[in-house]
Amino acid sequence: MSVHKKEVKKVTTHVLLEMKRMGQKISMLTAYDYTMAKIVDAAGIDVILVGDSASNVMAGHETTLPITLDQMIYHASSVVRAVDRALIVVDLPFGSYQGNSKEALYSSIKIMKESGAHAVKLEGGKEVKESIERILTAGIPVMGHLGLTPQSIYKFGTYNVRAIEEAEADRLIEDAKLLEKTGCFAIVLEKIPAKLAERVAKEIEIPVIGIGAGGGVDGQVLVFHDMVGLNNEFNPRFLRRYLNLYETIKEAVGNYIKDVKSSDFPNANEQY
Ligand code: KIV
Repeated sequence: MSVHKKEVKKVTTHVLLEMKRMGQKISMLTAYDYTMAKIVDAAGIDVILVGDSASNVMAGHETTLPITLDQMIYHASSVVRAVDRALIVVDLPFGSYQGNSKEALYSSIKIMKESGAHAVKLEGGKEVKESIERILTAGIPVMGHLGLTPQSIYKFGTYNVRAIEEAEADRLIEDAKLLEKTGCFAIVLEKIPAKLAERVAKEIEIPVIGIGAGGGVDGQVLVFHDMVGLNNEFNPRFLRRYLNLYETIKEAVGNYIKDVKSSDFPNANEQY
């Protein structure tokens, strides 16, 4: 008996580059677990980011700093088991790559080996150049992340828009060009003025994926929990909510509780 598996055209870093060349926008969302990743992939998303925002939305931490390398690998391997088509990128967590390129390489290899993901992402510009170079020596694709970089929240002091001042904007452009030259396959730009993000996207050839960076870039990323309204406490201007799952789920749970308390559930058809 022959088994016919449906052929799926997988998204690779090369496909993303081609999409930019062709002027096709890239869609990216976070996912952290098997069930949600399966839905997101089936919907046709191009890139799934196993973001260190898992520290916030999955574990309830105030910042992204506490999540560990092993916890990221746990989330990433759950996502990998679910996905047929999307490119899966995993955030290198805080403390796993900064200031030590050997550790950056070790962390990236551990992620790729133990999760089966396709690429890693890290935050920063010239200060992480050596780490990027070293990761690339192992053949691991690297995505950059500039602008608001949440792992540096205690340096910034706030989650406000970055690179409004000319000096910081100039530094960001320089860093974006450096990341491209160093070999990153794409860059995330978070919470910076739309005009600046558009300029960066025009001046480099690798895809620029924005979050709170306007529509002039090559693609968009949102945190899944924010996009489907699971989290109703986070309301930045850049967020478009496609559902209000917080209220929908709360109502469903309320109805379940009511049915249990009133002995309406289970009924005669819901038992053996
Ligand atoms: O961790 C994350 O979810 C991210 C996105 C906000 C880009 O880095």
